[in-house]
Amino acid sequence: MEQITLLKDISRDVLAGLCSTPKHLSSKYLYDNRGSKIFKEIMHMPEYYLTDCELEIFQSYKQDIYLDFVSSTGKFELVELGAGDGLKTKILLTHFLNQNARFTYTPIDISEAALRNLTTDINNKLPDISVNGLVGDYFQLIEEINNCGRTKKILLFLGSNIGNFNKTETLIFLNKLKDVMHTNDLLFIGFDLKKDPQLILNAYNDAQGLTADFNLNLLTRINNELSANFDLQSFKHHEVYNPQSGSTKSYLISQKDQEVKIQKLNKTFHFKKWESIFMERSQKYDLNTIQSLAEQSGFEIIKNYYDKQQYFANSLWKIMS
Ligand code: AVI
Repeated sequence: MEQITLLKDISRDVLAGLCSTPKHLSSKYLYDNRGSKIFKEIMHMPEYYLTDCELEIFQSYKQDIYLDFVSSTGKFELVELGAGDGLKTKILLTHFLNQNARFTYTPIDISEAALRNLTTDINNKLPDISVNGLVGDYFQLIEEINNCGRTKKILLFLGSNIGNFNKTETLIFLNKLKDVMHTNDLLFIGFDLKKDPQLILNAYNDAQGLTADFNLNLLTRINNELSANFDLQSFKHHEVYNPQSGSTKSYLISQKDQEVKIQKLNKTFHFKKWESIFMERSQKYDLNTIQSLAEQSGFEIIKNYYDKQQYFANSLWKIMS
């Protein structure tokens, strides 16, 4: 049933994206099993500084974060949107357990395989934590969060996942979160900050070519799931960063004039030489933008945590009083 829905979603979105001018594909489809594996490797690349920054913040401030989370109630439910392999979250989970915190953990992820691995890993390494994973698009699963009962909820949205939304989607998403949150609930968001543009470009245009593989893998996915004939060799990855708007965008560029047939859509798409497909946005922020996003969506910033180089911020929000 779930598989059929996903196939319908991907068919509809690929059709809409490739019929648009300019062409685009939704980055949420990057995370099939192979895509999730490549993303895991990206997180460990030397150029992808985001992982180390957030790990440093959690290592340095886990006790402060713990005290912020337990304040007033004691018992809480951690709900992580887009949990992936939970690499960084496990630092917090381990610390909370060592502090005898009373909490449960609900990771949500679009990749069933990633969620299964994460649940098994936590059950093995941290068996005292009660884990209840949910598979799906967190945009759609927000309603489920609302049905989780009245324990204080702390929503985690880490790793700059928020940067993959455009401004409108960001505000819709934050407003939706606010609507399912209660007065004591908290939202903890990872924001990648503006920095030397070259460092940002290197993170999304790595020497090994993993980011290129990650994007090209979506064409492989379309070949496999929608019976298409994309020739991967004739597309190349291209990354741009705009230091004024803070947007980092990845594209696949068609290196020749070509036709691609997608059988399950019963359609042939024409790609002109040097035509691009917009694949993913990874927004970079300054503190004023973070502040105004919070205000525009009805939140107040309680505290910002930074790594030493101030490359990254984990921002703790509550509903505006
Ligand atoms: C998941 N997300 C926060 C990553 C990012 O940095 O935008 C996805 C990614 N794409 C290429 N590299 C990493």
